[in-house]
Amino acid sequence: VSLKPYNTFGIDAKARYWVEIDSEDQLKTLFQLSEYLAVPKLILGGGSNLLFTRDFEGLVVKVSIEGIEVIREDDAHVYVRAGAGVNWHQLVMHCVHHGYAGIENLSLIPGTTGAAPMQNIGAYGVEIEQVFDHLEAVAIETGEIRVFTHAECRFGYRESVFKHEAKGKYLISSVTFRLDKHPVFHTSYGAIQETLTAMGISEDNLSIKAISDAVIRIRRSKLPNPADIGNAGSFFKNPEISKDQFETLKTAYPTLPGYPTGDLTVKVPAGWLIEQAGWKGKRIGNAGVHTRQALVLVNHGGATGSEILQLAYKVQQSVDDKFGIRLNPEVNIV
Ligand code: EPU
Repeated sequence: VSLKPYNTFGIDAKARYWVEIDSEDQLKTLFQLSEYLAVPKLILGGGSNLLFTRDFEGLVVKVSIEGIEVIREDDAHVYVRAGAGVNWHQLVMHCVHHGYAGIENLSLIPGTTGAAPMQNIGAYGVEIEQVFDHLEAVAIETGEIRVFTHAECRFGYRESVFKHEAKGKYLISSVTFRLDKHPVFHTSYGAIQETLTAMGISEDNLSIKAISDAVIRIRRSKLPNPADIGNAGSFFKNPEISKDQFETLKTAYPTLPGYPTGDLTVKVPAGWLIEQAGWKGKRIGNAGVHTRQALVLVNHGGATGSEILQLAYKVQQSVDDKFGIRLNPEVNIV
């Protein structure tokens, strides 16, 4: 089976076996098959945060469990449970439409709801851990159902337990979010303020819908749509460096942006470093660095996963040579 339609980089890798699961019952049946137990497994959501560098000699399980429901509410909150296969942006649109606040800043992020907690998706001042309540998962080897609480997910910046100890061990089947009935607006991010102003929105007519619209505008203006050009969003994480290193670099590069993350640490935008290293808009064969956002690597058509990976290594090396900063991939490399 070609995995090309199932990864937003559009890499033509192959899977030996393939199954699509659209209910929890189907999942139970799957775990009872002896053939299932015998092969390596890869769980796939929207395929928007991974890079295939080779064929997968096992079973790819595509999770397509749908369904959005309010499972509980009180005066301040609604608890919304979504099936792992629910398209993330559809969930955001559903919540914005019903006035459930908290994920509007995360509009238009590609991928599925089940994949969202794995890397604690975040954008424009919000990360899903801020609204995450719990998730249900199934142990891949035993079929045992398990709940992960917020604490058990061990969220960090683009991090969770599912990228570490629990990596490859669970299939997330549903995620429950605790959303606000009385919105708290997150508009501190510069680009959001500017866009809201350009849209004629002020404090008087601010709404979660307006924020969602602003985020959609910003993302469309600088992030490539995977339907047009293969990519997986930011390829690297924004690195955190020591305050000392930041001060030293700032003397040499006065325009270096930085956001303090603690008393002794500063996060710097990888996109800026990559652009300064001369990579913005560059291309090697069919793999390239996006013209409007240097943090995004793109497949201009027909690139292999290893071509993209080779480009990533070159970018990583130049940034290290120029700034002494090591970039780490954000994308899962298979
Ligand atoms: N910048 C450049 N050149 C570039 C790109 C960025 O100089 O080509 C500098 C600019 O100074 C800009 C700053 O970087 O002000 C920040 O850029 P931007 O607002 O685009 O955000 P980012 O740090 O590059 C992160 C996330 C994005 C998320 C945005 C908005 C990571 C790895 N990426 O990007 O997430 O949408 O912030 O919150 O943290 C993703 O994870 O796939 C993703 C797109």
